[in-house]
Order: sequence, then C-alpha cells, then structure tokens
Amino acid sequence: MLIKTSRDGYCHPVASEITTQAVYAGRRDLIRLMAGGVAGAALASWASRDAQAQTTGSVPRPGKLAALSGVKSSLPGAVTMEKVTDYKDASTYNNFYEFGTDKSDPAQNAHTLKTKPWTVEIEGLVKKPAKYTLEDLLKLSAQEERIYRLRCVEGWSMVIPWVGYSLSELIKRVEPLGNARYVEFVTLADPKTMPFVGSRVLDWPYVEGLRMDEAMHPLTLLSFGMYGEILPNQNGAPVRLVVPWKYGFKSGKSLVKIRFTDKQPATAWNKAAVNEYGFYSNVNPAVDHPRWSQATERRIGEDGLFAKKRKTLMFNGYEAQVGQLYAGMDLKKFF
Ligand code: MTE
Repeated sequence: MLIKTSRDGYCHPVASEITTQAVYAGRRDLIRLMAGGVAGAALASWASRDAQAQTTGSVPRPGKLAALSGVKSSLPGAVTMEKVTDYKDASTYNNFYEFGTDKSDPAQNAHTLKTKPWTVEIEGLVKKPAKYTLEDLLKLSAQEERIYRLRCVEGWSMVIPWVGYSLSELIKRVEPLGNARYVEFVTLADPKTMPFVGSRVLDWPYVEGLRMDEAMHPLTLLSFGMYGEILPNQNGAPVRLVVPWKYGFKSGKSLVKIRFTDKQPATAWNKAAVNEYGFYSNVNPAVDHPRWSQATERRIGEDGLFAKKRKTLMFNGYEAQVGQLYAGMDLKKFF
C-alpha cells in the first residue's frame, strides 16, 4: 500500500483517530440476525451464549440482515475469545480508497454507493460461468457469523463479527476447470458514485487475487454483513471478501466480478508498489514491510496511542488452519 506519512493524512492512525476503550456491552441479541426458517433452534441457543459484540454507539446502522438466516459458525478458528471491536470503530475507521484516502472518508462519502440492484459475474476458467444477483448469492448457502481478526498492513487491527459463508460454496457451484489456478476479484469502479475513482492513487478498479487453494479454504469468507446487520457501504456493501490470515487489503470490497484464471492476477497494491505489496500478503511478523516492522500491531479501540502494542501473530493467529498451504515456501520471497 502506498502508505504515506501521517503528515500526508492517510496512514498510521493518529491519536485523535483512536477511540478510547469502549464500555463492553453485555449480551447481544443475536436473534436480530435471523429472518426465520431453518436456523431457528440454533439461533435460540446462540442468542443465549455470552455474546461479545459491542452494540452501543451513535453511528447509524444500515439495517438487519433480513434475507439471511444465521447460525453460529462451527469452523475452527472462526470464533475468538478476544473482545469484539466497537461497531463505531469498525464502521468509521476504514480503508476504501474509492471514497477517499483518509480513514474517516469512507463513512462520510460512501452513502452514494448504490447497492441495489447488484450482480456478481463469475467468469473465466469455469464450467458454469454465471451472473448472480445479490439475492441469488444470499440464498446460495447458510450464513454463519465468524469473529475474525482483521490486521491491516499499516499496523492496526480489529476483531469483527462478519456474516457470510465460505467462498468455497460458490466456487464449487461454478465448477472451476482443471487449469484454473488463481481467482481474481474485481470490485466496483463507478466514477459517478465513487468520488475517488479516477484519482491517480490506484489503477482502478481495485483488484485482488488468491491462489485457488486459498480461495477454497473454508476460512475465506464471502461476507454480506457484520455485527448481525447488512454491511455498511463503507465496509464493502453489499458483498466483500474477508481473508483473515492476510493483510486487510486482500479483502476486496463491493465485488462485481470473480474471475478464474491460470495466471497470477495483477492486484491493485501489487501494481502500485511491487516491492512493498506482494501477491501473498500473508500476515507475517517475521517479514517486515520495506519501510516498517510488522512485528506488532495496535488494536483499534482498545489501545491508546502510547499503550503497549500487541505482538502480531503468524498468519494473524490462523496458522493452525492455514499454515499447510505454504509448507516449503520461502515466505520472504513470496511475501
Ligand atoms: N476494497 C476496495 N474495493 N477498495 C479499498 O480501498 N481497502 C482494503 C480492503 N478492501 C480497499 C478494499 C484495505 S487496505 C483494508 S485494510 C480493508 O479493506 C479494510 O476493511 P474495513 O474498512 O472493513 O476495515
């Protein structure tokens, strides 16, 4: 990422951008997630668990996930006992360069994003290329809530309850051909509704990519919501990717195309600064960014600017789940 100094206004969080520790709200009514149907029984018990989410705050919320029926995730690694980041922080401290480069820009500007109607086109090396409406995608598989850490390459992190399902559910449906080795994720670039598209900061559209086995890994989430509600525009509505063991920028927002290829995709940050942002971008405390260390991180909303930073964990703490994907690879070379 072309990270500039804080003088340039869009890089490391400054004191005023970091919210002091929010009061932790006790239980959360997870029933709100639910639209009815199959998950009723599961949700009843889910709602009675000690929920971790913070539900206070004055930030307007976009609305319930009415089309979804949620169930608690049973996926190993998909739930952490760490405190969930305040919704307010997660929805006002964002990177979404189509709406500006300051952390506060997306929350202020993304109201112009038009998320209905929405389609995601599946193309390239698949047996069943198709155009899915958002409604088709929502119905394709049961929704789960997964509490994942998101670690930004800039040195901050959050813990967010995402809602969605494994991308592999969609991939299996479209039947990739044998020579499909990579998946390219293309996001919306609409200059009419996205004021920074056209600026020279990136080559638009914002594109991300994964190797096929990374895309198929059950932790890789196609997400439609967070905190039991539909995604706020600034967090990538109506559908985004969340890849929890990689730096946050691998999690493309507002997806419009998923393309299967035999070549490694040229991704937005890789094109912008090839020696700073590699294709893999796995969270790795042992491989520094050329201009700063990646050994520690600041948890947004918990730590004050002068508080001790946390140690960054290998693969963002998901090593047990994903380490084998990279067995034998030189992660300094393939960073
Ligand atoms: N997706 C698009 N389309 N445009 C972006 O600028 N920023 C990335 C990623 N996805 C970005 C994007 C970066 S740098 C990060 S850290 C995460 O989104 C931030 O996600 P969040 O704002 O929901 O925390």
